[in-house]
Amino acid sequence: MYVSIWCHNLNLSSRSLAIALVVCVTLVYFSYSFNACLFASISRSLQQSNLRNLLTLQRRNVSKDADTAPEATTSTAMMPNSTASVASIGNGIASVDGAPKYQMLRQQGLRPSRHLPDTLIIGVKKSGTRALLEFIRLHPDVRAAGSEVHFFDRHYQRGLRWYRHHMPYTIEGQITMEKTPSYFVTKEVPQRVYHMNPATKLLIVVRDPVTRAISDYTQAASKKADMKRFEQLAFVNGSYSVVDTNWGPVKIGVYARYLEHWILYFPLSQLLFISGERLIMDPAYEIGRVQDFLGLKRVVTEKHFYFNATKGFPCLFKSEARSTPHCLGKTKGRNHPHIDANAIERLREFYRPFNNKFYQLTGINFAWP
Ligand code: A3P
Repeated sequence: MYVSIWCHNLNLSSRSLAIALVVCVTLVYFSYSFNACLFASISRSLQQSNLRNLLTLQRRNVSKDADTAPEATTSTAMMPNSTASVASIGNGIASVDGAPKYQMLRQQGLRPSRHLPDTLIIGVKKSGTRALLEFIRLHPDVRAAGSEVHFFDRHYQRGLRWYRHHMPYTIEGQITMEKTPSYFVTKEVPQRVYHMNPATKLLIVVRDPVTRAISDYTQAASKKADMKRFEQLAFVNGSYSVVDTNWGPVKIGVYARYLEHWILYFPLSQLLFISGERLIMDPAYEIGRVQDFLGLKRVVTEKHFYFNATKGFPCLFKSEARSTPHCLGKTKGRNHPHIDANAIERLREFYRPFNNKFYQLTGINFAWP
């Protein structure tokens, strides 16, 4: 514009005027091309940074050790936009809303959306379920809900739309996973999971039921100062002759009884049993099996783990949430109280026939003492 004013004000011959006009047009053309390039490149980098931010946000949220976190925290924290809306329910997918940043992702052919889980960690409580989840979610193709959603046991009446809203955003090719250990022991859950999706893959971590019971007791005692001794609770009438099978920590260890409900609905080929003992001794081996079972490339290997002698458990060199070496939270890997050896022996005797039944049903001998 300035150039044309300048041209206009000068009293030049028509030849000079023509030259000036050509110069003006050329300048305008170059200025337009330059601006167009600049805007295109800014827009491209904005789109990429939005995608990165979205995935980082999602990874950070799912990586919190949220065993005790309120469920609402997960559902809202994982929503990059508080106005996220459900697009459809029929296909089990909820797309993100029409906000500009998601429109940009869509233009790039990337559609982050919430899906109902393909895979569930259904139990067993205090067998290493959190370790399993933390280890498998190191895989870039696995996304998991951070806290226990308890949909199939406590919130079933809220419906699948509610459930899906508690799932993390995924992009095509990623597996959606959820862990709620109480699913394994809740009678109605197998049928409910089957109705959601009969092809759901189920992961079950199991450990010696005696150690599991002590771990369960230790957790309860950590929340209640005046808790009776383990030996007083595990047996009826204070002697070691009758095991109290109604006491939760003992009851949950009768794995065969619960498994029978699950195999009414799911073939064994859809269930993977993970040894809680081996998950501690050789996490890479167990995670290798899990990756094969889920049809994933073996990305999580021994390189991801180191043994922390102070904690006495395997820990991670880094995860999506933290780039420095770290272990699971202090509620995982507690010191157990001393339990009378006779009480332990009596419990082993009690569990033996149930363990054998479990080995028979699964086809795996876990060799518990
Ligand atoms: P303890 O705390 O009694 O030792 P869950 O996550 O299902 O509640 O299981 C908790 C148990 O996971 C812990 O019980 C611990 O033995 C076991 N575990 C397995 N791998 C672990 C790890 N890498 N770090 C801490 N605990 C682990």
